[in-house]
Amino acid sequence: MKKVAIIGAGGFGRETAWLLAQLPQFDFVGFFDDKEKNGAPENLPILGKVSDVHQLPGGTGLVIAIANPQIRQGIAKQIDRHFEFPNVIHPQVVLDGPQNSVGRGNIIAAGVIITTNVHIHDFCIINLACTIGHDTQLSNYCSLMPQCSVSGHVTLGERCYVGAGARILQNLEMGADTVVGAGAVVTKSCAAGKKLMGVPAKEYVD
Ligand SMILES: CC(C)(COP(=O)(O)OP(=O)(O)OC[C@H]1O[C@@H](n2cnc3c(N)ncnc32)[C@H](O)[C@@H]1OP(=O)(O)O)[C@@H](O)C(=O)NCCC(=O)NCCS
Repeated sequence: MKKVAIIGAGGFGRETAWLLAQLPQFDFVGFFDDKEKNGAPENLPILGKVSDVHQLPGGTGLVIAIANPQIRQGIAKQIDRHFEFPNVIHPQVVLDGPQNSVGRGNIIAAGVIITTNVHIHDFCIINLACTIGHDTQLSNYCSLMPQCSVSGHVTLGERCYVGAGARILQNLEMGADTVVGAGAVVTKSCAAGKKLMGVPAKEYVD
C-alpha cells in the first residue's frame, strides 16, 4: 500500500479521501491545508499547512484536491520536484482503451466515462459522472465539475474550468484559462481567458 496525503481539506478534498478509501493500493495518511482546522465532519487528520508537506517521509504520494486550476498549479509548481503525484481513479471509471493516456496527479471521480483516443495530461480533476468523447485532450490543470459532457475532438487548454453540468460540443478548442459556467452549452471555440455562460454560451465580461 502506498501512503498518500491530500492537499486541500475542503469538500472536494474530503471526497477525494472517500475515493482513496475505496482504492486498496493507497493508505490515506491525512490532509495539508492552510485554512481548515479539522477534517470535519469525518474528523480526518490535518497534518499541517501546505508548506509542511516537506516533513512527510520520502516515498509518500501527494494528491492536490483543489478545484481552482490556478491555485492547484501554484501548489504543484511549488512542491513538484520533491514528490510523487499518483493518479487517483475511482474503480467505477470507464477509461480502458489502448489509445487513451493519463499523465500524473489526476483525480478521476466515480462514474466518469472516457471513450477512445482521449489524452488527459497532468493534474486534472474530472469530477463525478463526466463524459469525455473521442479524440479529446485535456491540458494540464483542467477541472471538470460534476456531470460535464465534453464531446468528441475537443481540446481544452491549460487551466480550463468547466462548471457542473456544462456541455461542450464537438470539434471545439477552448483557450487556456477558459471558465465555462455551470449548465452552459458551448457551441463555439474561444480564445484564452474567456468566461462563458448560458445556452448557447456567450462570453461574459465582468
Ligand atoms: C460562471 C461562474 C464561474 C461565474 O462566477 P462569477 O464570475 O463569480 O459570477 P457571479 O456569481 O458574480 O455572477 C455574474 C452574473 O452571471 C450570472 N451567472 C453566474 N453563473 C451563471 C451560470 N452558470 N449560468 C448563467 N448565468 C450565470 C449571475 O446570475 C450574475 O448575473 P447578474 O449580473 O445578472 O446578477 C459561476 O457562476 C459558475 O457557474 N461556477 C461553476 C460552479 C460549479 O460548477 N460548481 C461545482 C461545484 S462541485
